[in-house]
Order: sequence, then structure tokens, then C-alpha cells
Amino acid sequence: FYVDWDIMTAEKAGFDHFMMKEIHDQPKAYRDTMGARLDPSGSKVVLDEMNMSEEQIRAIRNVHIIACGTAYHAGLVGKSIIEKLARIPVEVDVASEYRYREPIINKDTLVIVVSQSGETADTLAALREAKRNGAAVLAITNVVGSSVAREADHVIVTWAGPEIAVASTKAYTSQLIAFYLFGLQLAQTLGTQDAGFIANVIAEMKLLPEKVEQILAQADSIKGWAEQVAAHDNLFFIGRGLDYAVALEGSLKLKEISYIHSEAYAAGELKHGTLALIEDDVPVIALGTQEDLLEKTISNIKEVKARGAHVFGVQSEGQTELAKAVDGVFTIPRTLTLLTPALSVIPLQLLSYYASLARGNDVDKPRNLAKSVTVE
Ligand code: G6P
Repeated sequence: FYVDWDIMTAEKAGFDHFMMKEIHDQPKAYRDTMGARLDPSGSKVVLDEMNMSEEQIRAIRNVHIIACGTAYHAGLVGKSIIEKLARIPVEVDVASEYRYREPIINKDTLVIVVSQSGETADTLAALREAKRNGAAVLAITNVVGSSVAREADHVIVTWAGPEIAVASTKAYTSQLIAFYLFGLQLAQTLGTQDAGFIANVIAEMKLLPEKVEQILAQADSIKGWAEQVAAHDNLFFIGRGLDYAVALEGSLKLKEISYIHSEAYAAGELKHGTLALIEDDVPVIALGTQEDLLEKTISNIKEVKARGAHVFGVQSEGQTELAKAVDGVFTIPRTLTLLTPALSVIPLQLLSYYASLARGNDVDKPRNLAKSVTVE
């Protein structure tokens, strides 16, 4: 009995919960997932292990990304990455919808299934449906030899290491890294981006682990927000573009472990209904890291502020405008716009962790949820 306890404590590496340990594992998970996949010259991605020939890459006309839960949210970021870097149209769907909606799949479709465990029943069924229809399947998974890895034609392993907490953190961010690598591989092969652009993205990716460490060093500053949030039963996450995709993940994380109801909204869509729910003191978490969209996001922040919302913002270093429009702000280190999700999600992971603690919940084992859902 006490041996078990000892092992569990050791595995948490001094943290109170697996979730917090796994949040802190992220710099290593980024480094390991990038690992040998970046050419030492720093100018190229090397994904030979994926076993996808140049010919197969050139044949891709459209991409479907299929996943459940947090992995689905990584897929939403993946869509932007692939469309931006490779200019190939991408659809993203949750596996439990995709498998029953007779998706239009053909031999020119690349289906990417994203699954931490590689065992999620709906994701596996969607993979099989895609293969039956003649599509090639690429799996992004954290488990070597999982069902999804075995049945897919191509695999990119995320080297996040075992994830124990039900709420996924390092698996999600490692999935983002896998999408960056894959998007760059496509761009290299298809010539959709020039070599200088690719080298610059790679150089910025290499700086991400350090930047995550900088965010983690300020983790305590999120506690105050979390305590305020934990006193409410409803709140909203807003953002545009990639910030919207990250808002969806932040909202899910908070629901999963704090049991606080929240919704993520594309900031510009708020006024088409949901704005009616904003009243005095409702917390709103506003992501404003997408510089080209910042002015628009700020105008949405003003709309909620005018109705009494209490707004917490997340901005990138060097920006000054967002801070003026909100009640509290967290600043993430500067990176390329495309890479911001790999940083902006971290304060949201911390927010849900501390909110869950403030509510006295079982952080690592939230009610009603399982780490891996292997039945439909
Ligand atoms: C469960 C977990 C989620 C996870 C989802 C998909 O619902 O609680 O954290 O995102 O399954 O899991 P997968 O292993 O396929 O990524």
C-alpha cells in the first residue's frame, strides 16, 4: 500500500496533481516532439518516419481532420496550419458525427485522425470508414502501437509521454507541434512557402519550450483570476481566428475539471444571440493574440464591458491596446501569429487547474469522465 503511494508521489514529481505535473512537462514534450524531426541545419523538417512519399503528398486534394474532445480542438488549429502553410482545403469534424454523416471521401482525401490514446472508439470507427472509402489515413497519436497507429497508413507520434490526468494538457500541445511539423512538411514538398519562411517558422518553434517556461514561471498570477472565476456559475471565452480555436479548448478544460459552465464564442458572433447573457459581473476571458484581428476583438470586448462583464485578457508581449480595454491581463511571450496557440493555451490550462482547486474538486479525476472512451 505505501509502496503505491510512494510511486504515485514520485510520478507527480513533487506536484500535488498529475495535471500540474503534465502542464510543467510541456517544454520537454515540445522538445521531444520536435526532436529529430528538425534538420540540424535548422532549415527543414524531416518527417521520413511518416512514410508518406512526395508523390502521395502531391496527390492530396483535401484533408479531413477527425477527433474527439481536446484532440478535436487541436484539429481546429491544425486546419489553420495546413490551410495557411500548404493552401489545401481542410474540414474538421468530431468523430461521432463524421462516421454517420456519409462524408465525401475519395482517394485524393487525406484523413488525419488525432487521438492521444489511439483507442477512442468513435475515432477508430471514423478511421475505418475513411479507409473503406479509399482515403489515406494519417494518425497523430501519443501511443506507439495503439489501434489507431496500427490501422493508419501513416503515423506521427507525439512524444508527450504518458498523460495520466483526465484533462488533457501536454497531449494537446504536442498535437499542435505535430500539426506544425506536418504543415511545414507539406509546404516544403509542395513549394507553397519559400525556404526562408520555413526556416523562420522552425527557428521560432525551437524557442517555444523556453517561452512556455516563462509562462509557467508566472503561474501564480493566474490564481487570483481563477478564484474570481470559481465564484461564478457561467462565463464566456471569446477570440477570433486561432484565438477562437484556443478559446474552445480553454472552455472545455474549465468545464471538465471545475464544473463551471462556460461557452467559447467567436468574438464577432457574440452579438448574434449570446450577448443577451452578458450582465453585471459575468466573467469573460478574451484572447487577443492575433495582431491582425486585435482591433476587432477589442471592439467586441467593449461590447461586453458596456454590459457589465468583468474581462480578463490574454495578449502577446509588445501589445498595449488589449490591456487598456480589460480588467486584468496575462501576457504571453511574443511568437509568430501562427504559433501562438502553443503558448496562449497555457494560461487557460492553469486557470482551469486553479479554478478546480478553488472549488475543491478532484482535479485529476473529474466526475463522469474517463481518460479514454473505448465504447460508443
Ligand atoms: C476523453 C478524454 C478527453 C480526450 C478525448 C479524446 O473524452 O477525457 O480528454 O480529449 O477522450 O481522447 P483521445 O485519446 O482520442 O485523444
